[in-house]
Amino acid sequence: MIKKKILLFVLLLSCSEKEMTLDEEIAVGVWDEINGYESWTQPGNFSGIQESNSVHGNYVQIWLNEISSEFLHDTTAGEIMPSGSIIIKEAYSNILGENTTGITVMKKITDYDPTHNDWFWVSYKFNGSLAGKNGAEEFCYSCHHSGKDYVLFNGQ
Ligand code: HEC
Repeated sequence: MIKKKILLFVLLLSCSEKEMTLDEEIAVGVWDEINGYESWTQPGNFSGIQESNSVHGNYVQIWLNEISSEFLHDTTAGEIMPSGSIIIKEAYSNILGENTTGITVMKKITDYDPTHNDWFWVSYKFNGSLAGKNGAEEFCYSCHHSGKDYVLFNGQ
């Protein structure tokens, strides 16, 4: 009888925890991976807070990890960014960088979504919690598809 009660308790416990989807797990992993991105490279002609008329916000700022930055500076590189490339974008409602509306990230993961160049798209709140979009998000790539390898900012 006691064993049954313990079993029931364990079952209830495991049901009460909301299971994360695979995409959410990847998104949480990406947040850990980008820790400290504020000290990453910024695109030369798009560094600091820039005006934007995109859906992201009126003002934005972009950072590149080493892989994407090296690629963008290599004039002999092709059009398709390599796996492991990460681009981060913070959006704000004013030029001072206040009222951050969110952090969006795109990361290239081998074979993640071959039809759309393997980008994993994710949006975070400023504290790093998931903001609702993560994975092969049509919302994101349908707008980004006009860019070279889905990248829209102008710069290196
Ligand atoms: C309606 C169009 C639109 C949608 C939808 C959109 N973006 Fe963007 N995004 C842009 C534009 C335009 C830029 C270029 C920089 C700028 O002007 O703000 C950009 C820039 C970015 C960048 C910097 C790299 C680049 O491509 O320039 C990242 C990262 C990014 N977006 C992530 C996302 C994610 C993640 C989503 C989905 C949650 C998303 N975007 C949805 C228009 C869009």
